[in-house]
Amino acid sequence: MDVPFLDLKTPHRALESEILPLWQDILRNAGFIGGPYVTGLEEDLAKAFTVDHAVAVNSGTDALRFIFMALGLRPGDEVITVPNTFIATTEAITQAGGKPVFVDIDPKTYTLDPGKIEAAITAKTRGVVPVHLYGQTADMDPILAIAQQKGLWVVEDAAQSQLAEYKGKKAGSMGVMAATSFYPGKNLGACGEAGAVLTQDPKLAALVRKIRDHGQAQKYYHDLEGYNGRCDALQAAALRVKLRHLPEWNEARRAAAGRYMDLLKNVEGVTLPGIGEGCLPVWHLFVVLVEERDRIAAELKEKGVSTGLHYPIPLHLQKAYQYLNVPEGRFPVTEYCAQRLLSLPMFPELTEAQTAYVCEQLAAAVKKS
Ligand SMILES: Cc1ncc(COP(=O)(O)O)c(C=O)c1O
Repeated sequence: MDVPFLDLKTPHRALESEILPLWQDILRNAGFIGGPYVTGLEEDLAKAFTVDHAVAVNSGTDALRFIFMALGLRPGDEVITVPNTFIATTEAITQAGGKPVFVDIDPKTYTLDPGKIEAAITAKTRGVVPVHLYGQTADMDPILAIAQQKGLWVVEDAAQSQLAEYKGKKAGSMGVMAATSFYPGKNLGACGEAGAVLTQDPKLAALVRKIRDHGQAQKYYHDLEGYNGRCDALQAAALRVKLRHLPEWNEARRAAAGRYMDLLKNVEGVTLPGIGEGCLPVWHLFVVLVEERDRIAAELKEKGVSTGLHYPIPLHLQKAYQYLNVPEGRFPVTEYCAQRLLSLPMFPELTEAQTAYVCEQLAAAVKKS
């Protein structure tokens, strides 16, 4: 049996009848930039993520970069985040003028360990960026409490956790601002590139609107230098359609994750992902921890099961961050996980037969360890 890591073709075939008429409307009216599809998407996103303002932009990376610019990051400012994330989180900090400062992750949930924040705070620290990785939020209560006590802002990287919940609150609604990504493979993915900034603050939302459009609120009146970081109408129209399906897709991911949990709970040598207190994950990825991970991935591949690695090299050990001079061994939990985490196939259409086959093959491969 072949089990892909991700299947983007099946859902898009089913969505053609909903998306194509909207795209035809955009083509006929040549309304490619801005307009009702973009403002409509922003309204829908704000409602779904329970925030007052959503600003649609060109990518999740832009969303993060525009947030740090809007928060007035200055050269030398430090921002605390995790080394177990996609590089976009730290690229955005650096490109807005700041310096990423890493803290280790929690060994159960693989998200920022709140107990490690205080030791990383210096006089230059401006904020903390918890990354809601693999579809689960970080432990936000202690993170928000420490930030408030120390006068820091909290920006959520909610790229991988659309509609995940923490103690009844939506991912992206708890920090001063949040970013999400509509990269096609995300739980809510565009048919190209897009992302969004979420916030309850009208002034910050207005500033991000300017930053995404060359610093202008009115055409050719540039209050500051910004970017061309707008979300286009074709993406916005497709995203509006897909957003309506997101709750049912997240449910299907939960069902698949439940089957994985059930079938793997007694398999020796497979550590299942832990769910934090009060967390309702949306399973962007389903990661297991195994010894001899690369051999197991290769054996699964031979049996037709595709897997992924998120992430094989922690950010502090990447060439790009050699200049930060962080030695190997500084973040033991992240480094341990980077060698052992294996992402199993995860997408809403995953069938019972497929999850059963993946578990059967994984158990057989792990037995050889
Ligand atoms: C955790 C995280 N942050 C940020 C991003 C950046 O999003 P984008 O690819 O839309 O720029 C991604 C996804 O790629 C991500 O997984």
